[in-house]
Amino acid sequence: MHSFGQRANAIITFSLTIVAVICSLASFSDNFNTPSPTAEIEVSNFNWFQKQRNGNDEVSLTLNISADLQSLFTWNTKQVFVFLAAEYETPQNALNQISLWDAIIPSKEHAKFWIHTSNKYRFIDQGSNLRGKEYNLTLHWHVMPKTGKMFADKIVKTGYRLPEEYR
Ligand SMILES: *[C@@H]1O[C@H](CO)[C@@H](O)[C@H](O)[C@H]1NC(C)=O
Ligand SMILES: *[C@@H]1O[C@H](CO)[C@@H](O)[C@H](O)[C@H]1NC(C)=O
Repeated sequence: MHSFGQRANAIITFSLTIVAVICSLASFSDNFNTPSPTAEIEVSNFNWFQKQRNGNDEVSLTLNISADLQSLFTWNTKQVFVFLAAEYETPQNALNQISLWDAIIPSKEHAKFWIHTSNKYRFIDQGSNLRGKEYNLTLHWHVMPKTGKMFADKIVKTGYRLPEEYR
C-alpha cells in the first residue's frame, strides 16, 4: 500500500513531467512556423535638420510605417516587441544604430498596422555626420513566447538619404 503522501508525490511528478513535455513541444512546434512578415517604411517628411550648439547633428522626420507581422504570432506567442532603427556608417563606427520608434504588439489582431508618426526618440548623431548620409531603416522584432526561447529578426530597408543641407 502506498501512503497518500507517496501517491500525491507521484501524481505531482507525473503532472510536472507532462507540463515539461508540453512546454518543449510548444517551443519545438514554433520552429516549424516560418513567419513571413512584411513592412513598408517611407520617410514622408524631414521636419527639421540642425546642427546643435555642441556640434551634434539632429534630424526630425515623419515616418509612414505599415507592417504585417501577423505571421509571427502562434498560439505560443505572448507578445512581440518591435522597434525601428536608423542604421548608418560613420568614420568612427561601422554601425550606428538609433532607435526612432518602438511598440509592443499584444496580439495577432494588432500585428497588422499602419502608423504615421514623427520619430518618438531623438535622432542625434554624436558628431556632424548626417548631411547627405545614406542610411537604412530596419524594423527589428523580438518575439516573446509563452514558453521557450525568445527569438529576434528584422527587415532591412535600404537606400534612404538625409538632406544635404540643414533646414
Ligand atoms: C503611407 O503608406 C501607405 C502604404 O504604404 C500609403 O497608402 C499611404 O498613402 C501613406 N501615407 C502617407 C501620409 O504618406
Ligand atoms: C544597409 O543594409 C545593407 C543590407 O543589409 C548593407 O549591406 C549596408 O551596409 C547597410 N547600409 C548602411 C549604411 O548601414
